[in-house]
Amino acid sequence: MSKHEQVKPLAPAAWHIRSDEELSTESRLRQRKYVICCGCTTAVLLILAVILIVLGFTVLHVREPIIHMNRIIIQRLELDDNGIPRTDVNITLLAEVSVKNPNYASFRFKNTTTLIYYGGAEVGEGRNPPGKAKARRTMRMNMTVDVIPAEVAAVPGFSSEYSSGRALTFDTYTKVDGKVKIASVVKKNVEVKLNCTVSFNIKSGEIQNKPCIQKVSL
Ligand SMILES: *[C@@H]1O[C@H](CO)[C@@H](O)[C@H](O)[C@H]1NC(C)=O
Ligand SMILES: *[C@@H]1O[C@H](CO)[C@@H](O)[C@H](O)[C@H]1NC(C)=O
Ligand SMILES: *[C@@H]1O[C@H](CO)[C@@H](O)[C@H](O)[C@H]1NC(C)=O
Ligand SMILES: *[C@@H]1O[C@H](CO)[C@@H](O)[C@H](O)[C@H]1NC(C)=O
Repeated sequence: MSKHEQVKPLAPAAWHIRSDEELSTESRLRQRKYVICCGCTTAVLLILAVILIVLGFTVLHVREPIIHMNRIIIQRLELDDNGIPRTDVNITLLAEVSVKNPNYASFRFKNTTTLIYYGGAEVGEGRNPPGKAKARRTMRMNMTVDVIPAEVAAVPGFSSEYSSGRALTFDTYTKVDGKVKIASVVKKNVEVKLNCTVSFNIKSGEIQNKPCIQKVSL
């Protein structure tokens, strides 16, 4: 560009001054361009950083799924002639569970197991198939658990508690192992452990579940 300018027919005296002026404005312009360029790059990098931070705290941030035991119903309970649960037939309970997934990706979980305790002894279990809670949705599922009457009856203190007509207190322990995979960038194993306490009056068939304790490891 400066060469092109030089070819222009101009008064020699004026040419020298103009060239100096032009050179200085040009370098100043170049400097300004450089500053603008630097500024632009910094701004773009800053915006990118902000976007990444925001993404990190929102979309890419893996949050704890929340499992809620909504209610428990008796699916099968067979009593003998004396009104005592038959020892050869399991008591089957159905737990309606909701899995709230606050993540921007689905939460896939493997088989779940639920253990039932009465008086500290394991008296039954439930196994459930794998599932998927969609992104930012709450899924509902039914989990069935078998309580083995003979195991319950074998617990010391059962007969007195049962004959008094009081509700029996059961503890449940559910473990859900799963994974949250966000756009194949973030992959995180999620383990949810849920401890619940349920009081079950076998005579009246009344079931009450107390708030559960959830522990999640991400
Ligand atoms: C899930 O449960 C099914 C049926 O009980 C079993 O065949 C399968 O191997 C289990 N899968 C895992 C990963 O435990
Ligand atoms: C769970 O079981 C209850 C009672 O049997 C039924 O009304 C409900 O539709 C079931 N839910 C699912 C998701 O299977
Ligand atoms: C009762 O439940 C237990 C635990 O799930 C199981 O191993 C057993 O086969 C069941 N018994 C009957 C009679 O269904
Ligand atoms: C939940 O239950 C399991 C099995 O009984 C026990 O090991 C664990 O300590 C319990 N966790 C809480 C928080 O009560």
